[in-house]
Amino acid sequence: MKADQHPAWQALRTYAETHQDTLRHLFAADPERGQRLRAGGAGWLLDYSKQRLSGEVLGLLLELARQAQVEQRRAALFGGETINATEQRAVLHTALRAPADAVTEIGGENVVPEVQEVLARMAAFSKAVRSGEWRGYTGKRIEAVVNIGIGGSDLGPVMAYEALKAYSDRQLTFHFVSNVDGNDFAEKVRDLNPETVLFIVASKTFTTLETMTNAQTARRWLLGGLGDESAVSRHFVAVSTNAAEVEKFGIDTQNMFGFWDWVGGRYSVGSAIGLSLMLAIGAEGFREFLAGMHEMDQHFLEAPLEENLPVLMALTGIWNQNFLGAESLAVLPYSEYLRLFPAYLQQLDMESNGKSVTLSGEAVSYSTGPIVWGQAGTNGQHAFYQLIHQGTRLIPCDFIGFARSLNDLPLHQDLLMANVFAQSEALAFGRTAEEVRDSGVPDELVAHKTFPGNRPSSTLLARELTPRSLGALIALYEHKVFVQGTIWGINSFDQWGVELGKVLAQKIAPELEGSGAPHHDSSTNALIEWYRREKA
Ligand code: F6P
Repeated sequence: MKADQHPAWQALRTYAETHQDTLRHLFAADPERGQRLRAGGAGWLLDYSKQRLSGEVLGLLLELARQAQVEQRRAALFGGETINATEQRAVLHTALRAPADAVTEIGGENVVPEVQEVLARMAAFSKAVRSGEWRGYTGKRIEAVVNIGIGGSDLGPVMAYEALKAYSDRQLTFHFVSNVDGNDFAEKVRDLNPETVLFIVASKTFTTLETMTNAQTARRWLLGGLGDESAVSRHFVAVSTNAAEVEKFGIDTQNMFGFWDWVGGRYSVGSAIGLSLMLAIGAEGFREFLAGMHEMDQHFLEAPLEENLPVLMALTGIWNQNFLGAESLAVLPYSEYLRLFPAYLQQLDMESNGKSVTLSGEAVSYSTGPIVWGQAGTNGQHAFYQLIHQGTRLIPCDFIGFARSLNDLPLHQDLLMANVFAQSEALAFGRTAEEVRDSGVPDELVAHKTFPGNRPSSTLLARELTPRSLGALIALYEHKVFVQGTIWGINSFDQWGVELGKVLAQKIAPELEGSGAPHHDSSTNALIEWYRREKA
């Protein structure tokens, strides 16, 4: 069913057309609002009081979730039903982090034992590499790990590695090659020694152009340094669902860590795709990371909708986007370790919910996934926050922060967090022209120094960035995306939109070498011809 056919959607539309709630008024009318509009789960606190939600709107949004059958779809997700209908697949990333004795079935078969078996193999391998027992071809221990992958086979691992660097084994260095631009590979391996490098070729399909090109280049680079084909098995491992292609590439399937088609690429960081993270933080740390994800899964599964963090975040997003006219979501982590989190979320959210037809193929008549962007604070404050505060667009923000720093330097953490709280306060309440005038600002500058306020934000807080809290944060956003996709009636688990470009690139690549007339539109033909001339 289309989202705008639900009675609650229609009531929300009428409300939005007839009310203009402001955060100043909402707070003035309810002195307890800041204590009331918050919820906690899996170590995270969500303050959503600075969202433009009246009690009536909140009630209607919860109704909408019920009318869109969020609870039933959630049960179908966790129950291993084929909810990715366009690819005829179950969606069971939650099974990757289920406890060893849990039962999660697809078509009557429990998948948890297989998951645990791969985790145990990953743990043994990580231990061998970290301890120096696993040696390179010339007998030297591994000093550098290079993950080759793209999309979900890169963004999750690199984001989580950067986020948990404080917990990593500093005897090893980690590098992530994703772009088909050869400069990525060249720069990342520039200072590495082939004798001490371990390449992880991470690709669900093992056919992705970028990853296969980089993997072949890595192989040539390694053989250029070591000169012997048999070195490959000591320096290459693969993570994939496609054993046949892994073998064809020349990686021994003994050195392959598998996963399954019911794990979407952007939901795969808890699978063997997270091998680089496990090598960095150890098997115990990785278990903690999975435990945090599982804790959030349980919260999502069990908490009533009105206290359910992913549901509340999804609903506030829908209110902002479909009824208040916002088009994007700024994700602003106040932790340098989380600097890649916005990039990670871009794939998670935009590849999942960047859809314009419903599950039954009907065009939607409302906007779906938001444009997700952001940067670590406080850096963004000196770049784009001006537009958020005084620009013409409504840009809801998610602030993310921690009570404790992992590097306890005097002053820094308090100053960092003071900025989180200051930003959301300024966005919500602004500064009226009267207040500006009263502070002695000359008349001609009053308009310039006025802050309209009434700009919605949520604040997510945890005590400390740990493998567990990071796992929970990732799962929180995964489920938020799922709830929104459910309400919009779309399939959050396919990504057909990325295919056409891939097909055309395969067609154009040989044309760039050739000299015959290219067969495209006049613009593309002219661009190809320019390239041929200039590169000659
Ligand atoms: O961008 C399309 C996509 O299929 C993503 O969904 C996926 O994460 C990425 O490519 C990489 O795919 P693979 O892991 O199969 O190389």
